[in-house]
Amino acid sequence: MTYSQIRKAFLDYMEQHGHKIVPSASLIPDDPTLLFTVAGMVPFKGVFLGTEPAPAPRVADSQKCIRAGGKHNDLEDVGFNGRHHTFFEMLGNWSFGDYFKQGAIEMSWDLLTNVLKIDPARLVVTTHTSDDEATEIWKKLTGKDAIRLGDKSNWWSAGDVGPCGPSTEIFYDYGPNVAGGLPGTPDEDGDRYVEIWNNVFMEFNRDADGVLSPLPHKNVDTGAGLERWAAMLQGVTSNYDTDLFVALRRAVGEVTSVTETPENTVSFKIISDHLRSVGFAIADGVVPSNTERGYVVRRILRRAMRHGQVLGHRGALLSRLYPALVSQMGDAYPELAREQSRVIATIEKEERAFEDMLHNGLKLLEKEVPNVTGGTMAGDVAFKLYDTYGFPLDLTQTILRERGIDVDIAGFDAAMAEQKERSRSSQTFKGGLADHDTETTKLHTATHLLHAALRKVLGNGVEQKGSNITPERLRFDFSFDRRVEPNELAEVERIVNDAIAAAVPIVCNEMSVADAKAAGAIGLFEDKYGDAVMVYSAGDWSREICGGPHVANTSEIGTFKIKKEESSAAGIRRIKAVVGNS
Ligand code: SER
Repeated sequence: MTYSQIRKAFLDYMEQHGHKIVPSASLIPDDPTLLFTVAGMVPFKGVFLGTEPAPAPRVADSQKCIRAGGKHNDLEDVGFNGRHHTFFEMLGNWSFGDYFKQGAIEMSWDLLTNVLKIDPARLVVTTHTSDDEATEIWKKLTGKDAIRLGDKSNWWSAGDVGPCGPSTEIFYDYGPNVAGGLPGTPDEDGDRYVEIWNNVFMEFNRDADGVLSPLPHKNVDTGAGLERWAAMLQGVTSNYDTDLFVALRRAVGEVTSVTETPENTVSFKIISDHLRSVGFAIADGVVPSNTERGYVVRRILRRAMRHGQVLGHRGALLSRLYPALVSQMGDAYPELAREQSRVIATIEKEERAFEDMLHNGLKLLEKEVPNVTGGTMAGDVAFKLYDTYGFPLDLTQTILRERGIDVDIAGFDAAMAEQKERSRSSQTFKGGLADHDTETTKLHTATHLLHAALRKVLGNGVEQKGSNITPERLRFDFSFDRRVEPNELAEVERIVNDAIAAAVPIVCNEMSVADAKAAGAIGLFEDKYGDAVMVYSAGDWSREICGGPHVANTSEIGTFKIKKEESSAAGIRRIKAVVGNS
């Protein structure tokens, strides 16, 4: 049976047993306590609590889930075992006050052993220590004793508060040739016994104080990992050896032109896993960013790119792999194809922004690894990676953790604090001016015009992040998250030259910060200015809080020319420009 056929077999069975089949909900939950939909029950939380009506007394679906941040986080395990994923599909059936323990357990057993023909001898079940009822139902049905375990393994909740209850889990035994121990033993994390289905008897609500109260109904919430079912039914011990992942790994080989070997297989697995979480998340509307779920997606995407580089691949990766995901899973999830162009464009943008810094940062990291002593990388080295290459600390940590190396976080923080102190004192140094000769004064006024023109062309997201002027050139750093295209640079240059040609006088006014803001002045480092600030205006071309000095008239600048546009750090671009007749 293929991955898709198994999904269908589950849903068909549940439909035949009176369940209404519903589509998967979005990965973005309607629930402020969760970053992502982490389980099939998430969209039904309100139904359990009695605040929303049930779609039907019995419901089943295959739910898209991401577990890569917060309480449910499998990110670090991905690729290193065959069972965990950042994205997976959870097959689930629910009873909202309809059948309870007896019905749920009977259906699970019937589907597994009679329909899917799994040898009952291969199945092991666990129940909660408190749950005599479920334990007896299993005994009568199978003749076997359930293994009874505590809250850690057999009590389920999506978050710290909300619906919860005891669970009974079903494990598949891959046999003595595979290493691993029974659930509840020290070796339980081995590959031999794999949890394939969890039945939760949702009858309680936990409040913020940890107090349990009964829910309006006794409900059932079951969850079964489709990827694990595929492995079990296809006779392989790793999810990555199922038809779906074999196809995705093949696509990784095609896009990177690298042959998979035992040495590089982890990277193939991580990339194919991350393709699904990044692709599905963005299709559902997550935008990579520096906060919350956007950051989780950005991290996953960067980790995939990192593994692309491990394979020797440069440039676009997940954006080129996305069509393979659509062809594998688009039948069940039409949003993948519907959102294709947007998803690819979003991933491409991230990949472009991250590529250079990743490449350079990895080189430095590799150079530093042999210098690590005592299993901990010095904080200032990690900081240099961050500061110079925009290499996020958590990526450094992830890469090093794979080799058993820690990072000295206190040292990193100290280096960061020192850097802040340094930049504070250099900012007070005449607004970035090295001296006051005529050339630097011209370049300083040109910097204001450039700043204003960039905001006109690229939007008000552009903010000064640094300025440095020598007699030869100006250098201006600003926030912007992609390359500035040549036509945009030409436009910026044209605006500055128009301002010069307009021969506008530069006027300086002293005013309060509030008045300066009201007058539309831009300017940074507000906290370093006292109450009154100087605002330099060049007509309507530019108005900026600044310490001067400036030319008297823009015409003195001569010609303005951009020499270079490049990345300075993550999300920061750098322009170098000259004035005069050069
Ligand atoms: N919510 C439970 C789980 O995620 C069962 O669906 O395991």
